[in-house]
Amino acid sequence: MDETFELTDPSIQQYCEAHTSPEDPVLYRLYRETNLRVMRPRMLSCKNQGTFLQIISRMIQPKRILELGTYTAYSTICLAEGLQTNGWIYTIEKNIELEDIIRKYLRAAHIEDRTKVLFGNALDIIPTLNETWDIIFIDADKTNYLNYYKMLLPHLSDKGIILADNVLWSGKIVEQIHPHDKDTQAIMEFNDYVQADPSVKNMILPFRDGIMMIEKL
Ligand SMILES: C[S@@+](CC[C@H](N)C(=O)[O-])C[C@H]1O[C@@H](n2cnc3c(N)ncnc32)[C@H](O)[C@@H]1O
Repeated sequence: MDETFELTDPSIQQYCEAHTSPEDPVLYRLYRETNLRVMRPRMLSCKNQGTFLQIISRMIQPKRILELGTYTAYSTICLAEGLQTNGWIYTIEKNIELEDIIRKYLRAAHIEDRTKVLFGNALDIIPTLNETWDIIFIDADKTNYLNYYKMLLPHLSDKGIILADNVLWSGKIVEQIHPHDKDTQAIMEFNDYVQADPSVKNMILPFRDGIMMIEKL
């Protein structure tokens, strides 16, 4: 599955990139190193998505952020952009092999002392966290998106938002689903559940692979 499917025409995409603020040099180095050294670099957030996360974080000025799916910490660094001075970002990653690169770039971005990297399965770790979150970024393990939502919504602060990535799943959500395609089924179930939830206001931002943005009413 190509997780960086672009919905927009490539020339529009290029135009958008050209009219998005330049990438921070640390993020650029991380992007390059991930592409050179790490398996499945297409899972990385791109400059546009990273800038979006930075702006959201600056607007919310979060005290606590939870990210599911660190990968090489590109989105972690972007999400931390607006953290309050005494704030923390928690990020959960099941692949311990990524630890060196994650820590290297958290150090380079000067957020190592405000980031808790938790290695393991998000479903097991989430119940151990006793926090109220201002931003929750769901970007791991598509089959459990709905479980993450149900577990985490009660722990979202009043000013908080949930962002769930890849909710358009390369456009498969509007195609005939293969009976064995559990990821697409799970994402559609998540999208439908959120849409029918009267306790939230939500919308899908149709850029990149689609981001569901959710706030509590
Ligand atoms: C799409 S990548 C995350 C990309 C990153 N957030 C970014 O924007 O650059 C998904 C990550 O989730 C991790 N992952 C998958 N299933 C997981 C699970 N059950 N618990 C924790 N991490 C998981 C994968 O190892 C992978 O690194």
